[in-house]
Amino acid sequence: MSKLIQRGISSTPSMTLFILLVSLLLIGQVHADSQQVIKQCESCHGSKGNSQKKDIPSIASFSVGYSQKVMKAFKADKRQGKRVKATSSSKETSMNEIAKQVNSNDLKAAYTYFSKQKFVPARQPSNPTLAKKGQKVYNKRCMKCHGDTGADPEDDAAILKGQWIPYLRAQMKEFQENKRPMHKKMKQQIKRLKPKDLEPLMHFFAQPA
Ligand code: HEC
Ligand code: HEC
Repeated sequence: MSKLIQRGISSTPSMTLFILLVSLLLIGQVHADSQQVIKQCESCHGSKGNSQKKDIPSIASFSVGYSQKVMKAFKADKRQGKRVKATSSSKETSMNEIAKQVNSNDLKAAYTYFSKQKFVPARQPSNPTLAKKGQKVYNKRCMKCHGDTGADPEDDAAILKGQWIPYLRAQMKEFQENKRPMHKKMKQQIKRLKPKDLEPLMHFFAQPA
């Protein structure tokens, strides 16, 4: 009996060590998985979230709150993401599929990583005369929420200034056709936009902040 107790007691430290080792292995595993997921995001959104592809948005410095909000919309198919390929040889997929496949811990790790990266404005042409006209429209209709000339990640409203224009144009179309959910007050402003306001706005956003 006393031998049994002794054995029981002596097995406790090794048991603790065993549990500790297993936990460490598990933590290591989770970490490795989120690194893998971040690499997957970067295969489309570019190194550190600065996209080199015109139809894929940069997500560097996006707030965790904004990323969570849009990912929820993708997961519920309330926002329809364009189908794209990371490279010419990879399989076509969309943010809707990604939002459903990747687990929430890995997604959170990815948002946190991207929120800490510096946003590099896309290098693209902008016509200064049109951009000036666009600034007036922006000041009147968009600045209130897309503050700091549209580049404030704290607004939870994405970054417009320096974002890829082909991507923004596609999003404006989605908003105008009611295919992407949006803030009620933004909807009012989008409705008030005249067709001739759109291109000047795009040229204004194309200028780096
Ligand atoms: C196969 C390419 C691809 C991969 C991989 C990918 N994305 Fe995307 N992502 C896109 C495209 C394309 C869009 C634009 C969707 C649309 O058309 O509305 C997008 C949009 C987004 C947006 C919304 C941006 C905005 O301005 O509203 C976020 C946030 C985002 N992705 C995060 C991620 C994260 C985090 C990962 C990794 C888990 C990831 N993406 C992996 C292609 C990809
Ligand atoms: C009342 C606040 C508000 C106003 C006014 C507003 N927006 Fe927005 N906008 C938002 C929010 C919030 C989002 C994030 C939408 C989401 O959750 O998907 C957004 C998203 C966007 C996006 C998508 C960005 C991306 O990366 O996908 C574009 C483009 C945009 N707004 C353009 C405009 C333009 C142009 C105007 C002015 C005509 C405007 N907005 C006025 C609040 C506003």
